[in-house]
Amino acid sequence: MQVDFPPGFLWGSATSAHQVEGGNVNNDWWDFEHRPGTAARWSSGDGIEHYHRYAEDFALLRSLGHNAHRLSLEWSRIEPAPGEFSRAATAHYRRVLTALAETGMTAFVTLHHFTLPRWFAAAGGWLAPDALTVFARYCRYVAVELGELMPYVCTVNEPQMVALHGYLEGCHPPGVASEALWKRVGRRLLEAHFAAVRAVRGASRRSLVGLAVQLPLLVPALDDEECRALRRLMRHEIVDLHLDGLTGPDRGDFLGVQYYRKQWVDPRSPTRFAEPPAGCRTTQMGWAVHPDGLRQMLHRAAETRLPLFVTENGIATEDDTERIDYLLTHLAAVAQALAEGIDVRGYLHWSAFDNFEWSEGYRPRFGLIAVDRDAGFARHPKPSAYVFAKVAETGRLPQ
Ligand code: NOJ
Repeated sequence: MQVDFPPGFLWGSATSAHQVEGGNVNNDWWDFEHRPGTAARWSSGDGIEHYHRYAEDFALLRSLGHNAHRLSLEWSRIEPAPGEFSRAATAHYRRVLTALAETGMTAFVTLHHFTLPRWFAAAGGWLAPDALTVFARYCRYVAVELGELMPYVCTVNEPQMVALHGYLEGCHPPGVASEALWKRVGRRLLEAHFAAVRAVRGASRRSLVGLAVQLPLLVPALDDEECRALRRLMRHEIVDLHLDGLTGPDRGDFLGVQYYRKQWVDPRSPTRFAEPPAGCRTTQMGWAVHPDGLRQMLHRAAETRLPLFVTENGIATEDDTERIDYLLTHLAAVAQALAEGIDVRGYLHWSAFDNFEWSEGYRPRFGLIAVDRDAGFARHPKPSAYVFAKVAETGRLPQ
């Protein structure tokens, strides 16, 4: 039988704590959601109650053919005050990761996925002089306590997006717009990754560690020098800095590639990005659909010579036939990259469930599984979940 994906390929989906758990009231995002005048007009509220329903959620994902799952630990629960670690939160995540392991799914555990403990943000967040030491202390604690349950650890989720959204565009906390701070935080977060790699390796020999980067396909809006110059700058800050930075001993064991879209860089736009051209297929987020960009960015990521996992890829849409098309065309791009010799070892779809999409609230629907937030948070797998299950079970794309 001809297969598109090799045996042992990891198939699954991804979430993050603040987007699904509910009741994460002690972090900078909760503050941002509840402070008038920020870009976030929605409360994450109860999330999708994953904090209490993790066991049934994992069982459901396993029944849908997944053999891997990515989630994040909520730092503000584990370390609610500086240097004070919660035994109860640690025990909770031990139960969560044990339940995940018992399903037979391989865990990818993200240490920092966008949210910061309130006390860390108040002390200056990533710009605080001791930020890296403090982050490393948390990473070391988690690795000591939970290391044997974390076969794969993602240190920092999308460092470039934390910097871009938080410090240039201002749509994530701390809601700043400063070109200098944007660049500084981008570099800081690469250092945070190195510090986390050292901390985890020092405490747990079981875990493979990697950075998870979002790699959009950036192109100039027009073929003129101004557009090309801005594209060079954006490409440097968003793509090259973090990939080319992964050369030293602390670079980690793998790289997580997260891909969603093609973006047109345009100095005439206040956001530095142009709207997708007329006729281009877009999602609920207004993002342009371009599957070959995933293949191209896997090639770019492979220049690091690290094994690759697609740790996020997905579409916000109310129309599940669009999701099926997005899923299959992007999986075909992964299969093509594999055929071209790229070392891709897994694909984790964003997301398992419809969930809290940051400043956009619960409107965008990224899930393979719908959640009825008005009827006891009931889970309803969409047709796309069964399409994904079939691919995962056979290792083949439908003809
Ligand atoms: C990237 C982020 O890691 C995730 O939290 C977010 O929901 C998705 N992309 C979609 O925007």
